[in-house]
Amino acid sequence: MSSNSTPNSISIFQTKKEQQIPITMVTAYDYTSAAIADAAGMDTILVGDSLGMVMLGHPNTLQVNMDMMIYHSKCVSQAATKAFVISDMPFLSYQVSVEDAVRNAGKLVSDGGVDAVKLEGGMDFLPVINAILRAGIPVMGHLGLTPQSVLQLGGFKMQARLADQALKLLDDAFSLQEAGCFSIVLESIPSNLAAYVSKQLQIPTIGIGAGNQCDGQVLVWHDVLGLLNNFRPSFAKAYDDLHGRITEALQTYQNEVKERTFPAEQHCRDMEESEWQMFLHEAQHMEE
Ligand code: KIV
Repeated sequence: MSSNSTPNSISIFQTKKEQQIPITMVTAYDYTSAAIADAAGMDTILVGDSLGMVMLGHPNTLQVNMDMMIYHSKCVSQAATKAFVISDMPFLSYQVSVEDAVRNAGKLVSDGGVDAVKLEGGMDFLPVINAILRAGIPVMGHLGLTPQSVLQLGGFKMQARLADQALKLLDDAFSLQEAGCFSIVLESIPSNLAAYVSKQLQIPTIGIGAGNQCDGQVLVWHDVLGLLNNFRPSFAKAYDDLHGRITEALQTYQNEVKERTFPAEQHCRDMEESEWQMFLHEAQHMEE
């Protein structure tokens, strides 16, 4: 196997941080998208619980459960030949008990086939993080806007805008690092705070809505490709307009069906002439 086709391991996070090479991450939820992300060379793919919103149409991530995460993780991990695959631990899969958390993290690895898990929260979750790590499963942290707490936060709003909140986030980040998390997602926090935290930490930060000084960036599949035309967070950039392009392609397909220009000759195949004649001969007998 050439080094180019060697699957990315957890070490890529530390190596890239040390070499100051930004880490690239995108979410994916199915085989085809994951195969494209993998072939495009993404360092890592996140099976985010954002799937509840962009795949299932829910207003938040709270209805996503373990069965869904395992199913989507399996689809993604089967496609990823090189990218490091991380699965979100869904709401209530790690908040109830440490035992639940370890069992559920284990299922994402053994049944879902992922390389690591991500969970939201700071030092309150250290017992859970320690136990999952003891089971040999790498853990990514997630601070700032933590969507599973959206009800408590009062909406999807930027976090840590005040000095005391920023200090709490910094403290949480140090705790996660100390516990052994290999990386931390910083979501929707002021850019100067994200830059400061990223500089202080030895482990890499992956930003989303957190400026360009994090050690890497993550975007949601549907946002990065412009797949949805009804919603996109202000911090997300669409690199294409797939919603528009797909709509156009489907309209062209419909028109061609209606005009009978599809299928064209190259999409069709008739029976061999001899078989056709035999068929006609026998069929005519059947009609008599
Ligand atoms: O669920 C998700 O997609 C995420 C990213 C936004 C970081 O957690």
